[in-house]
Amino acid sequence: MSQKTYAVAVDGPSGAGKSSLSKRAAAAFGFVYLDTGAIYRTVGLAAKRSGIDRKSDEALKNILPQVQLEICYDETGLQHMILNGEDVSETIRLPEISLCASDVSALPACRAFLLDMQREVAHKNNVIIDGRDIGTVVLPDADLKIYLTADSRERARRRLLELEAKGVETDFDTVLREIEERDWQDTHREIAPLRQAEDAVVVDTTELNLEQSFEAICMLMEEKLPVCRKS
Ligand code: DC
Repeated sequence: MSQKTYAVAVDGPSGAGKSSLSKRAAAAFGFVYLDTGAIYRTVGLAAKRSGIDRKSDEALKNILPQVQLEICYDETGLQHMILNGEDVSETIRLPEISLCASDVSALPACRAFLLDMQREVAHKNNVIIDGRDIGTVVLPDADLKIYLTADSRERARRRLLELEAKGVETDFDTVLREIEERDWQDTHREIAPLRQAEDAVVVDTTELNLEQSFEAICMLMEEKLPVCRKS
């Protein structure tokens, strides 16, 4: 019989801190971290490179047979995305890929293509998975569901700092507009829209710093799962 694995689903809007907090919590508990946004970003990049209409399900369906996606982890536990043999982990973080990802993520062909891939990682490992529909669609039986959120202006402020640190030139209003546009697209799409699962615990990080947010997540994991921190 296979051993019981535990899954923590972390959903919420862009820039709420899902990936940095989930990555850190996964390392602290010895869980695998799966950033599903990175997978959608990779499909968004593939769609952009092929020049298709990114809002057309039919067009995406036609290119998917040529899209080979692999998820691998380096020795530090960092997730890498490989698209047709090329490591695209950095390219998919460019701001212009964010909207491409949001566009393709609304298409049924894209979501169907990625569903099993995400479930497979969860069934084989103890995982923390972050995304938009993990607690509602991908893993409705997750052992712990967290809805991580923050006010949009605070999320824009944090995203701006991140982009500035990477040397990307932009400004607060542009980042806020992009965040609000993505929030709207992600919550209004027909399939698997971003919403809080009924049994999710809400963690609002607007007034919390990184350390306080991390503690909130670790405490929830310790409270709800039979696991303890390794570091
Ligand atoms: O988390 P992120 O910003 O890297 O995600 C990029 C886009 O992918 C986001 O706009 C919505 C989409 N996404 C999704 O629809 N479902 C997921 N599980 C993860 C991301």
